[in-house]
Amino acid sequence: MHAEAPPLAVHGAPVIALPVERASLRDVPEISALNNLFAPDGLTLPRSEAFVANHVDSYCIIRAADGSVLGCVALDEYSPSLVELVSLAVLPKAQHRGLGKLLIEAAAALARKRGFPELFSVSLADQLFLHMGFVQSSLDRYPEKIARYAAISRSELSISRKFLFSRRL
Ligand SMILES: CC(C)(COP(=O)(O)OP(=O)(O)OC[C@H]1O[C@@H](n2cnc3c(N)ncnc32)[C@H](O)[C@@H]1OP(=O)(O)O)[C@@H](O)C(=O)NCCC(=O)NCCS
Repeated sequence: MHAEAPPLAVHGAPVIALPVERASLRDVPEISALNNLFAPDGLTLPRSEAFVANHVDSYCIIRAADGSVLGCVALDEYSPSLVELVSLAVLPKAQHRGLGKLLIEAAAALARKRGFPELFSVSLADQLFLHMGFVQSSLDRYPEKIARYAAISRSELSISRKFLFSRRL
């Protein structure tokens, strides 16, 4: 099934066009493990396999030629008009080759397809988001974000090096 996917380019070279796919239930353990690789450093919020399984329709992934998951991203829908890009993660061995940009674009396309007018994200990867058409915004514009995460992760909101970015769709 994945035989048509081109192999990863040699280290450091740009990936030309690895396809971004919607995730399926069989991808859940790998997605959860990939996301959680970066949770101890506060770069992603921890996501259990149960959480990923419940939201699998909102996850996009990029696979290696052998079918394993190299990168993932998800939409967290707050309301019909508010959606956040979350769980953006690329395996360290596959970073710096454009996968992050492909995943952000895929998340924006999915959010647009679902009718959202705007996409926002909280991240320290400022250059990446600015390059992808996002502008730095204020957390004050998103009281839903503050309310949603206040109970579980005050630290995410208080990490001063993280910024909020938004992009019109
Ligand atoms: C952020 C992440 C998904 C980027 O994936 P990637 O495949 O390397 O991204 P791309 O190759 O498309 O783009 C890389 C560019 O993004 C920018 N970038 C990536 N991480 C960055 C960071 N932490 N701070 C600032 N800019 C960053 C750089 O400009 C980088 O350019 P370079 O490759 O010349 O260094 C990956 O580094 C990752 O998984 N990080 C850990 C988890 C994380 O921080 N997720 C974001 C939560 S919203």
